[in-house]
Amino acid sequence: MSCDPHAGRLLSVLAAAIPPGGRILELGTGVGLGLAWIVAGLDERADVAVHSVEMDTAAAGVSATADWPAWVTLHVGDALQLLPTLGQFDLIFADAQGGKTEGLDLTLAALAPGGQLLVDDMFEQPDNPVHRAVWPAIQAVRQRLLGDPSLMVAELDYGTGMVLCTRRSSALGTRPPA
Ligand SMILES: C[S@@+](CC[C@H](N)C(=O)[O-])C[C@H]1O[C@@H](n2cnc3c(N)ncnc32)[C@H](O)[C@@H]1O
Repeated sequence: MSCDPHAGRLLSVLAAAIPPGGRILELGTGVGLGLAWIVAGLDERADVAVHSVEMDTAAAGVSATADWPAWVTLHVGDALQLLPTLGQFDLIFADAQGGKTEGLDLTLAALAPGGQLLVDDMFEQPDNPVHRAVWPAIQAVRQRLLGDPSLMVAELDYGTGMVLCTRRSSALGTRPPA
């Protein structure tokens, strides 16, 4: 269930671009692989806060054994309940059912102006019964993101298929074309 190296490397790239004092959220820590890629992208920075949410206590227990920097906070709980309490973020990796195929609006509400949202596993996986079961919901995620005028959206033919979005700031959203 961990993210593939393509998603991981992209997470590192996006994390490295986080503005000073920025905030990052991962939904679905799993055993911590995606989080490790985020931390690697931040290198020795200590001005960024990284939050990661996992509701499976066994997976959360594994990720908690790693020696994370002090600016990483691991939350054990349901993303749908925690999302409204965590504030806004400059980068969100929505990699859990909660906050992606369920409650995507809660995730979008947590995306700061100029913030970026990454979702992976957006290509159909006909040989994967788990992914097949959620495929209609994945298509709905794609439609929801592509149809949101407050987002700039790119579909990336990369790894497991990604959608990368940036929340327009109001100034950008209203600026007429040059
Ligand atoms: C694809 S795995 C995450 C992999 C991880 N992001 C990585 O890159 O290594 C999805 C995880 O989301 C968790 N999850 C699913 N629904 C959740 C929810 N509503 N709240 C929190 N975690 C959830 C699952 O328990 C699972 O560990």
